[in-house]
Amino acid sequence: MKALLLLALTVAVSAGPSTSRFDGVKVFRLKPDNEYHVNEIKNLAEKIKLNFWNPEGADQVTSHLNVDVQVNDEDVLLVKDLLQRSGMEYEVLIEDLQKAIERQFDNKHRSTAGYSYEKYNSWEKISEWAESMATENPTLVTKTQIGQTFEGRHMVLLKLGKNTGFAKPAIFMDCGIHAREWISPAFCQWFVKEAVTSYGSDPAMTSLLNNMDVFVLPVFNIDGYVYTWTRDRMWRKTRSKNSGTTCVGTDPNRNFDAGWCTVGASKQPCSETYCGSRVESEIEVKAVADFIRKNRSIIKAYLTIHSYSQLLLFPYSYTTDLAAHHSELLDIARSASNALYSLYGTRYTSGPGAVTIYPAAGGSDDWAYDLGIKYSFTFELRDEGRFGFLLPESQIKPTCEETMLAVKYIATYVQEHN
Ligand code: ARG
Ligand code: ZN
Repeated sequence: MKALLLLALTVAVSAGPSTSRFDGVKVFRLKPDNEYHVNEIKNLAEKIKLNFWNPEGADQVTSHLNVDVQVNDEDVLLVKDLLQRSGMEYEVLIEDLQKAIERQFDNKHRSTAGYSYEKYNSWEKISEWAESMATENPTLVTKTQIGQTFEGRHMVLLKLGKNTGFAKPAIFMDCGIHAREWISPAFCQWFVKEAVTSYGSDPAMTSLLNNMDVFVLPVFNIDGYVYTWTRDRMWRKTRSKNSGTTCVGTDPNRNFDAGWCTVGASKQPCSETYCGSRVESEIEVKAVADFIRKNRSIIKAYLTIHSYSQLLLFPYSYTTDLAAHHSELLDIARSASNALYSLYGTRYTSGPGAVTIYPAAGGSDDWAYDLGIKYSFTFELRDEGRFGFLLPESQIKPTCEETMLAVKYIATYVQEHN
């Protein structure tokens, strides 16, 4: 009887489209320290299916850059053998990806059903949450929609700010450009919660929302995010169809009009850093770009939240030339990182994208900056690779708390300098 029940269950579960499992899959940290090592990695990437975590593609691999890469069970021996022969240093960051995926949900108080700021929430939960934030805080939160995703989901935008009857200067912040970076949407939700609960008591938040509006896009790449919940936890790109191939999706952070597809991006639809068939080919990118263009006279700062690596980056990434406001942006990034550090001692590195990590064109930060939004920053939240994209839920609270300090530093600065 028991066996029959089990059989029935198994059939029921495997009948529908199911989530891929990652048993035995490992994540390596490779440490190339010369061009020979770099080439070994690039050759390997052509031979076997590697999923790059950091940097995002073989084309961005350079010597002296740690390369975090996901290796399938059946390729582990081959990779280890190659590493030994080439003398390249490496560590195994994750021994079993499936177990690490299960360990993300380590929040002791979690009940699978309800919404919580200290849990990763599904898109369904996030969209119900957004609705209730607006209805419960009518004087502070307005919910709008800036467009639809490829699969037809509503792109929900929350506007936070005291209604003064005048158009106020604004900050735009988005989370979840990349689907697998789950801590990012968790931060946008946290920010909204902090705004509504500390308005009226916290002087910095009160002043911010009295004098400015903050536009929060809680999930940019909703289709991708849903896909990471239902099919493939490690998905990064959008879910749009590409012609002439079965490979799906474009990297939304390579799809903006900023040196588009010139460096650190790929013209191959199967690549994780595919720049798309043209600038703004992704409907989600077009929606965000249209919204920002329409409001460019009021938007003073653009913040975009990613993970992982603990970085606070600013333009440029498409060129190694320094931005016109380089020294001011560097000062702000350093001070914001210090504020973040003060809470739990989490260390961030700040600098322009191209020289701090790697050149990569088509990013939203560079595009916003070139549009005239001077205060443009990319956050790469926790951690430095121990868990990578699979940051355990027990770290949501400390990560969000410390990040709030950096974001509030920037917001206060912008408020005083616009
Ligand atoms: N890891 C991020 C990405 O590859 C970094 C973004 C930095 N900005 C940029 N324009 N590349 O998308
Ligand atoms: Zn990202």
